[in-house]
Amino acid sequence: MRVRSPRRLEGELRLPGDKSISHRALILNAIAEGRAVIRNLSPGVDVASSAGCLRALGVEVGAGFVEGRGLNGLRAPAGPLDCGNSGTTMRLLAGLLAAHPFVTTLAGDASLSRRPMDRVVEPLRAMGAQAAAGPPLRVGGGGRLRGRAFELAVPSAQVKSALLLAGLYAEGETVVAEPVSSRDHTERMLAAMGADIRVAGGRVAVRPTERLRPLDVEVPADLSAAAFWLVAASIHPAARVRLRGVGVNPTRTHLLDVLGRAGFQVGVEAERREGLEPVADLVAQSAPEARPLALDGADSARLIDELPVLAVAAAAIPGESRITGARELRVKESDRIATMAEGLAAMGAAIEELEDGWVIRGGRPLSGARVRSHGDHRVAMALAVAGLVASGETEIEDAGCVEISYPSFWGDLERLCRS
Ligand code: S3P
Repeated sequence: MRVRSPRRLEGELRLPGDKSISHRALILNAIAEGRAVIRNLSPGVDVASSAGCLRALGVEVGAGFVEGRGLNGLRAPAGPLDCGNSGTTMRLLAGLLAAHPFVTTLAGDASLSRRPMDRVVEPLRAMGAQAAAGPPLRVGGGGRLRGRAFELAVPSAQVKSALLLAGLYAEGETVVAEPVSSRDHTERMLAAMGADIRVAGGRVAVRPTERLRPLDVEVPADLSAAAFWLVAASIHPAARVRLRGVGVNPTRTHLLDVLGRAGFQVGVEAERREGLEPVADLVAQSAPEARPLALDGADSARLIDELPVLAVAAAAIPGESRITGARELRVKESDRIATMAEGLAAMGAAIEELEDGWVIRGGRPLSGARVRSHGDHRVAMALAVAGLVASGETEIEDAGCVEISYPSFWGDLERLCRS
């Protein structure tokens, strides 16, 4: 895919449904009793991986609905479940299936097969589950699980959600505490479905329930997809972009705080609630006065998926930005510390790779180059944003990987450039 800097970047977009909420809308409703209607489900391949796995477990997942089979209604799959590129699918299903009487094998693509699964397998084993990290990961086929209290060393919504799902089936109470609260979509949905779940002071506790009620979900537009346009509009000299109905759950909006702190002009308008989640329209425009970024571990944990595009922002803002405490980026769909440093350096940025982040001396003009996405959707989209402010042409290799979370990304980019 080739990108050039447009004279203006302008328009209004309706982004795809939130990936995290979409996975949960499918997986949690699969074990409820009855049909749930889901609107604006993420069209991405990752969420399709969750739907495919659930079908292999005997769940009917149709266009806009899930037919829940109850807490104990899943069927043993005929073969390994294919989680594709999706860490959320693999980790959440590992938790859900750990208490089931049959053994399930969870497999993924080359990238997912390299990612750490011991962080979910070890606590599940501590609850008494049969589990091996693999690859492929194997879970289930043992006896009843026992609830336990966990303190996660690294905040992770995937691990937290996996343990809460296992906790629905465990004797007694399962408690998960995190150093920084990760996204809370699972907790919100489980509470609304009638689960015995309590959240207080950075701890979540769950006990088994007899049944879960199906939950209709209107999935908000994905803030992690919005991040690309918020940064693009802010660093382009003649830009204004409006994004409608974006999810602004407080466990997800640290990006907006950080952009505000740096002097970016992101407007949050018409804030309202859609079902369990707050949503708003976001408006971003050129911010020539922006200041460098200084992000530490607590910041990084709260906007981990937005860091690749924040690295692009840092390369455009004059002055030295430091992004640290982000070692987790090394075990995402690619080693994002390395892949973003490679791409931005190829475009002329002064970027130094740290073990846990980057030091970026921004403000040097970027120039178009041939860059690699390494098959990582967020790297492809972040480098495309860099291409929108670079001179000449930026060619992004393996650009089709945006289909993981945002299949219409290239079309939306063209639309904003055409204005
Ligand atoms: C996600 C949690 C995060 C995030 C991922 C989606 C989720 O991963 O990076 O894109 O939906 O729970 P971790 O739990 O590994 O931090």
